[in-house]
Amino acid sequence: MRTFTTVALGLIGAAVASASDVSSLTKDTFTDFVTENDLVLAEFFAPWCGHCKALAPEYEEAATTLKEKNIKLAKVDCTEEADLCKSYGVEGYPTLKVFRGPENISPYTGARKAPAIVSYMTKQSLPAVSTLTKDTLEDFKSADKVVLVAYFAADDKASNASFTTVAEKLRDNYLFGAVTDADLAKAEGVSFPSVILYKSFDEGKSVFSDSMDAEAVEKFATTASIPLVGEVGPETYAGYMATGIPLAYIFADTEEERTKLAEALKPVAEKHRSAISFATIDAKAFGAHAGNLNLKVDQWPAFAIQDTVNNKKFPYDQESEITADLIGKFVQDFVDGKVEPSIKSEPIPETQEGPVQIVVAKNYNDIVLDDAKDVLIEFYAPWCGHCKALAPKYDILAGLYTEQGHADKVTIAKVDATANDVPDEIEGFPTIKLYKAGDKSNPVTYSGSRSIEDLIKFIKENGKHEVSVTYEEETAEAEKPAEPTAKETEDSTETATEEVKETATEAAEAEKTADAHDEL
Ligand SMILES: *[C@@H]1O[C@H](CO)[C@@H](O)[C@H](O)[C@H]1NC(C)=O
Repeated sequence: MRTFTTVALGLIGAAVASASDVSSLTKDTFTDFVTENDLVLAEFFAPWCGHCKALAPEYEEAATTLKEKNIKLAKVDCTEEADLCKSYGVEGYPTLKVFRGPENISPYTGARKAPAIVSYMTKQSLPAVSTLTKDTLEDFKSADKVVLVAYFAADDKASNASFTTVAEKLRDNYLFGAVTDADLAKAEGVSFPSVILYKSFDEGKSVFSDSMDAEAVEKFATTASIPLVGEVGPETYAGYMATGIPLAYIFADTEEERTKLAEALKPVAEKHRSAISFATIDAKAFGAHAGNLNLKVDQWPAFAIQDTVNNKKFPYDQESEITADLIGKFVQDFVDGKVEPSIKSEPIPETQEGPVQIVVAKNYNDIVLDDAKDVLIEFYAPWCGHCKALAPKYDILAGLYTEQGHADKVTIAKVDATANDVPDEIEGFPTIKLYKAGDKSNPVTYSGSRSIEDLIKFIKENGKHEVSVTYEEETAEAEKPAEPTAKETEDSTETATEEVKETATEAAEAEKTADAHDEL
């Protein structure tokens, strides 16, 4: 059956491939392909992966556009080419990598939409720094949203070298050019050496003449390129999260209102520049994200600050007006540490019904950080299939500790991490951690199989009390619906592993996006 399906799909695949601008590669063709083509974007995928399916039409479209520029797009089916994918360190699907020959490989960090792929790969195809003259400078300045041009003397090798270093590092984000004509520098009002960042927003350009030290130039580029009041969207969200400074969101459901509020709050943004990023966000498209900031999701406009490092949320009272004065005061109070973060929590359960302790944000410290006990906690999401599959086993596990008289030493707990703000960084569901008695600041994350036996072993080996419980083999057998044949077991394990991988990747993404929005 399996063979038949593979063959049938293979045939369909072949028929489609002939009409496609994306090259399907195997272990026999891959190396030759990335050697013969100077610049290749390769997608490592699995046919069952949802994100891969969503990418497919975008990828096709980008391949067709980029064909003219001689930039090739390729794909590798990792269910057929497991070794090839492994050799490139593929851990989740889809994985996209840029190849400049078989040895020079970098991850693709752009968005998974056709225009973004085209723009990203076009930038990759240009030299890191374009040499500019009086004929090319003017057009170059406005060739992208953010363009950096260095002005230095033709014999200034040091400035050239440090600017090139920065350009190679940030080439995915901005365009870089260099001018050695002293008259052009003079016309721009700068002396050698200087860098000017041209932008299609705010004041139009920022000048940097302090030093041509690579680190200083990089810092200038990353800060001066952020608009005073920007926009949170799928393309910019990750950038904001990576700044290491808090992000202030201005939610509004019309473009007009966003423009108006951005203008009104500019003085506040200016005052806190380089300490807090300010950005508007389309409440119609990404309103769900307001929920992640503990705002009501149906009342606009709204304002909230997110501590992007500790993921703490500071929603502004939705009954209050949004004015420069009021927001100015709120932001100043935030900076002064006078605003308490808002914590999302389900109510504390009145009684704990089952052997598994139900944790919510409000009783997290009491249960999880109880210093007398080894606490195993599962972070789950209601939509997560693997969490549902684990639930009956987890109940049995918890029962073993209570029934065998260890409830004073070991707690088995779970928390719905989508409905409660927890201090832990959760990258996929389920995540299971052990908080050891007497050592609550160093939780151990469980990475073994999700079997009762292995979990018991984990608790014994990592808990302070080294408690072990007995778990009868017969009971174990009775739970399994039927003993599967060896062949089937193999297949179902394979699928399970694949699913785990996809779930891990998708959950991580869902998490990240859930934090942003479903589509963000
Ligand atoms: C910077 O140095 C490189 C390598 O020596 C050279 O090819 C390039 O032309 C220089 N850039 C400018 C603008 O002179």
